[in-house]
This record gives sequence, C-alpha cells and structure tokens, in this order.
Amino acid sequence: MHFDERRTHFLQDRLSRRLKECQLDSFYSYYRLLISDAGKQELAQLLENLTVNETNFFRNKAQMDLFHKYILDDLLRHKQARRDHSLRIWSAGCSTGQEPYTLAMLVADGLAYYYLRNPLPVEMPTPKPLVPPPWKVEILASDISYSVLRAGQEAIYTESQMASVDYSYRLRYFDKIGERYAVKKALKEIVHFDFHNLKTEYLPQRNDVIFCRNVMMYFDEAEQKRLVEKFSRCLNPNGFLFVGHAESLLGITDRFSMVHRNSGTAYQKIEELA
Ligand SMILES: C[S@@+](CC[C@H](N)C(=O)[O-])C[C@H]1O[C@@H](n2cnc3c(N)ncnc32)[C@H](O)[C@@H]1O
Repeated sequence: MHFDERRTHFLQDRLSRRLKECQLDSFYSYYRLLISDAGKQELAQLLENLTVNETNFFRNKAQMDLFHKYILDDLLRHKQARRDHSLRIWSAGCSTGQEPYTLAMLVADGLAYYYLRNPLPVEMPTPKPLVPPPWKVEILASDISYSVLRAGQEAIYTESQMASVDYSYRLRYFDKIGERYAVKKALKEIVHFDFHNLKTEYLPQRNDVIFCRNVMMYFDEAEQKRLVEKFSRCLNPNGFLFVGHAESLLGITDRFSMVHRNSGTAYQKIEELA
C-alpha cells in the first residue's frame, strides 16, 4: 500500500487506533509485533483498517451507461457472430459488492434487450433464465479485504446503501427482508467473489471487460504502470478497462485507446499487429 504526504494523517490515525487496541505505547513496539509470527493476525486486522471501501450501486452513471448501451451491446453482437457465447467481466477491487451486482443487473438487462431485438428461434424455458442459453456469463468480484468479500457474498444492503438503485431494479433483482434488501439468488449466481491482491503477478485471465475503479489511486505511479500492464495481459483481444473518475491512463500506458461517450470514459486494448 502506498501513502503519500496527503495520506500520512490517515495512516497515523489508523495505526494509532490499532496501537490502542493492542495496548502498545509506541509505533516501534507495534512494528515489532507486526513482523513477528504472533503478529500475522494483527497484520490482517491492520489491513482491514487501512483499506478504503467506499462504494455505491451504479457509481459513475455516465460510465455505467457507456458500458450498458454501447460496449456491452457491441460485445454481444460480435460474440454472437463468432458463436462465442461466453462473457467474463472482472470487478477488481469490488469492495462490498455494489459494483459487481450493478454489472450483473446491467448484463442481465442487456441480454434480455438483445433477445427482444434478435429473438431466438427456439422457445425460451419459463420462467425465463437471467442468462439465456447458450450464453455463459461470469462476473468475477475480487478484493484484498476478507471482510468486504464476506459482505459481498452475503449481498444484503440497507436502505441508505440502496439510495442509487431505482425501483425497477429493486423490484426485479432484490427481495425485501425486513428493512433491508437481499440480492435475488439468480443474480447472485452470476457473481463469484474471490481474494486477489492486485500487486501479485498471477491475476485472472481471459476477461472481456475489467472494472478497476477507485483502487489504482492508492498505488504509486510505478505500481499503477505495472498493474495496467498486467490488466492488458488479462484482457481478451480488444477488451475494455474502466478506471475511476479521478484516475486516468494518460502517461501510464500506450497499450489502450480512450473511448468517450456522453461523459463516460473507458479504455480499449490496442491489438498489436503481427
Ligand atoms: C474505494 S473501494 C472501490 C470499490 C469499487 N471499485 C468502486 O469504485 O465503487 C477500493 C477497494 O479496493 C480494494 N483494494 C485496495 N488495494 C487492493 C489490492 N492491492 N488488491 C486488491 N484490492 C485492493 C480495497 O480493499 C477496497 O475494497
């Protein structure tokens, strides 16, 4: 994790909380604890305290519209033409699941709309599945924090977390349980949560689209460059990468070209000529 001068206050505050919790009176004794065998659990606890997990359903609406209305539709058409019916989307740094579940809702709607315009020659089974055969959709949701992964798997959200989810989505994709909303089973089945540290070498391959938003801003420039290189290897030919509103690939890489529509931005992998 990288903390520049603007974030030292945050780091100091979070470390002080852990010191207090461990009843230690100096940063040095806390450091000794962290590097000892007995400190493994504390290191995990510290990590949970240092990650920023802020997220939202339909975060950055313009970007979600770009994905939904242009990129997804294009992907479905091209894949259908090649008789490749698999779609793999990766939410890297997924936090508590709002981003991957938003993507799952948009993909389910995108497929339904696609088949409205291009009806299948065969009758669809009833009730209609979210993902009509022969399509196979996988949304991989990964994070470095186990607690957010657990929350994502649980998939139960409070009214305030649901503020940006309009009623048509609530009615179709959530069940109301008391005061809270649970993601319906059929939608949950499309999303798979897994632990991945984006700083490691091995990362999930063969993705059509990667969303890595509001994660890279916590990396230093060298790490950002390494990560974007890795993402380019993790994408299928002509795949797409979405980064956060305050993040940009400018000066980081020349392996992607920018796609911009109605204030939404994404990056498309440039294929090298053989
Ligand atoms: C601010 S949240 C962004 C969530 C979501 N992508 C969004 O934009 O709404 C950043 C997430 O990145 C995760 N993260 C930070 N460093 C990471 C790393 N090295 N590997 C994987 N995930 C990481 C954090 O745990 C956190 O859940």
